[in-house]
Amino acid sequence: MRPSVSELLEFAISITEQAGLRTLAYYQTDLAVETKPDESPVTAADKDAEAFLRQAIESRFPDHRILGEEFPEKESSSPYKWIIDPIDGTKSFIAGVPFYSNLLGLEVEGEVVAGIANFPALKEMVYAGKGLGAWWNRKPARVGSVSDLRKARVMITDFRHFEKREAWPKFKPVLDSCLFSRTWGDAYGHALVATGRAEIALDPGMNPWDCAPFGIILKEAGGFFTDWDGNDTIYGPNAVSANPELKDQVLACLWNDRSR
Ligand code: IPD
Ligand code: CA
Ligand code: CA
Repeated sequence: MRPSVSELLEFAISITEQAGLRTLAYYQTDLAVETKPDESPVTAADKDAEAFLRQAIESRFPDHRILGEEFPEKESSSPYKWIIDPIDGTKSFIAGVPFYSNLLGLEVEGEVVAGIANFPALKEMVYAGKGLGAWWNRKPARVGSVSDLRKARVMITDFRHFEKREAWPKFKPVLDSCLFSRTWGDAYGHALVATGRAEIALDPGMNPWDCAPFGIILKEAGGFFTDWDGNDTIYGPNAVSANPELKDQVLACLWNDRSR
């Protein structure tokens, strides 16, 4: 018999919590930093946490597929696919800044049904299961009700990411229209939107492991997580999260088309 979403979610919460504790053991210590071919940094903590999650998944569900940032994809014919970002915000982690996370998503037949974003140094976990609601430390998580872009708090990770991807002309109208923006975003930006502490999070460059938990988390929290074309996907090249009132406004602004 197939496990229920609720069983899978509880399992995912438990292993992500344990992975988070493992990363805390390395946090604010003198860590060696390697540079990957894409020039992003990686540490022993990233690899340790992903190896732990893979091993935990494989021992409970030996046939499930696994896609993770730091090791090769495990493929099979299983309808279940776990997607791991062992540390999102590695740059924060290396700097000893607590806004990093451990991300885990579970797809069943191509649809994400469970997602966890764990922020161990902040003692915060935001998670959701399909039809089971979104939760912030086991209390309901809800997007906020701001409906005017001029009052929106916008979270990003690094201004240079927009320049690098030639996305600055798209982002500038959002920046000009919002209340203010803050950086150090990474996954925490999307978690802030899902918990009503910010209205919009924007990232011009994403991989599936950066996004995996957020489609389901934002949906269950009453909001949206899409690519910049408004597609409900974790496989887009970029991402935006927002509450329903602001979704069309931010997409229109990104495309400089205020009539949308
Ligand atoms: C990064 C974060 C960041 C995004 C980058 C990613 P990492 O992930 O998700 O928000 O802008 O493109 O590489 O490397 O810290 O896991
Ligand atoms: Ca990431
Ligand atoms: Ca990562």
